[in-house]
Order: sequence, then C-alpha cells, then structure tokens
Amino acid sequence: MTAVAQTTPSYGPSLLLLLLPLVLSQNPLHSSKPDLDSETSPSEECNRRQHPIVSFPALSPWLSSFSAPGVNDYSQLALDLSRNQLIVGARNYLFSLSLSNVSLLQATEWAVDADTRRSCQSKGKTEEECQNYIRVLLLSGKKVFTCGTNAFTPVCSTRQIGNLSKVLDHSMNGGPGAPTLHATPPGHGNGSRQAVMAATVDRPTRPRPCHLP
Ligand SMILES: *[C@@H]1O[C@H](CO)[C@@H](O)[C@H](O)[C@H]1NC(C)=O
Ligand SMILES: *[C@@H]1O[C@H](CO)[C@@H](O)[C@H](O)[C@H]1NC(C)=O
Ligand SMILES: *[C@@H]1O[C@H](CO)[C@@H](O)[C@H](O)[C@H]1NC(C)=O
Repeated sequence: MTAVAQTTPSYGPSLLLLLLPLVLSQNPLHSSKPDLDSETSPSEECNRRQHPIVSFPALSPWLSSFSAPGVNDYSQLALDLSRNQLIVGARNYLFSLSLSNVSLLQATEWAVDADTRRSCQSKGKTEEECQNYIRVLLLSGKKVFTCGTNAFTPVCSTRQIGNLSKVLDHSMNGGPGAPTLHATPPGHGNGSRQAVMAATVDRPTRPRPCHLP
C-alpha cells in the first residue's frame, strides 16, 4: 500500500489528504468495518493496537479528487492555509488547488527544455525518465521553494505563492542552500501517484492523549 495520508493537527474538522495510486480503485483496501460514524470511547481508542482503517469505498462519499489529463506523479503536497490552497507538485507541473474541494486554481507547466531532454535521451535514458519530477516543495511566507529532477539535471526555483508561474529565483543543480536531490524518476504504471484526493472528516471530540502503559 503506497497511499500517503496527512492530517492537520488542528482540532475540529480536519482535512485528510491522500495521494492514491490508481491501483486502489482496482484492488479495494482492507475490508475492515468502516467506523466513521461510531464514536469510540477514549479508552477504547487508546487500547487499539493499530490505527483504525477505513475502506476506500466507505470514504468515497467524502472524497474530492483532482487530476489533470496526461499528468501523473502527484507526489508533493504543501498546505497554504492562509490562502486556503493546496500546492501540488507533479510530473512537469505545479498546481494550486482550492482546499475546500480540490478544484484547480492554477496550473503551471514546468517541463524539461528540448536541449536538456535530447541530451538526457542521448545518454540512453528513456523518455519517461527524461522528465521533470517535482521532488521538493516547501512554503516559506509568500514564497514557494521547489525543485525537480529535470531529466537528471536537477533544477530549483523560488516562486510566488499566489502565482506559481512567477519565478522569483532560479538555480540549476542545487545552488546555494538547495537540498541534495535524487534525480531518479518514479516507478512506472501502477506505482505512480495518479490523483490527489481530499476528504474533510469531522472529529466529534477533541482528541485526548493516551496514557501509555
Ligand atoms: C470549489 O470551491 C471554490 C471556493 O473555494 C468555489 O469557487 C468553486 O465554485 C468550487 N467548485 C466546485 C466544483 O464545487
Ligand atoms: C503570474 O505570473 C506570470 C509570470 O510573471 C504573469 O505573466 C501572469 O500575468 C501572472 N498572473 C497573475 C494572475 O498575476
Ligand atoms: C496495473 O495493475 C493492473 C491490475 O493489477 C494490471 O493488469 C496492469 O498490467 C498494471 N499496469 C502496469 C503498467 O503495471
């Protein structure tokens, strides 16, 4: 199972974000009983050996999803709560989505230029590998710092958070302060993340800490 889940630490309604590989729709998850509605007492919750598992079909009425035609590997997510948006890094693209329903606010293409792609392919790499897979996505104030594999010649840029097309700074191969970036593209087919899904889940009560034995 390669789904990635993230929850906001806040109390009250919390947003659950999932990156789901396509395989989920073909092989539904564990068939344990959904317990979205049942309230469990804190002691019961504390005695659980594992996190509760909710099956994909049980969650689907609460899910909204986003994917763009021809784009895959939605592998990086960053929450911008002050603008109520979710920033997503995918293959050759950056997106900003509305947090309420993951609808598209802005799509910015960030693809490999023709020379870099040719040089990548001339080294025997496949077309699939010679793409720009976004691997770093960090928010800081009004800026987004992001890096992509760029056909094995990693590139980073700083962009304006309200307009991802606006490049404030650009550096090839790291540049000062840039993280080390593995230029490896993801696995093909079923392993790559095919959509962004989000669900708002109401918590009936404040979560209480468990006392460990
Ligand atoms: C999604 O939410 C935005 C506001 O955040 C709204 O403008 C838009 O109409 C909504 N779209 C859909 C399809 O519900
Ligand atoms: C976003 O930035 C791009 C590049 O600087 C610019 O062409 C475009 O007009 C901007 N869009 C908005 C909505 O400001
Ligand atoms: C994806 O999974 C399906 C079903 O498990 C399989 O039939 C298909 O060949 C797989 N595709 C790839 C590209 O691995």
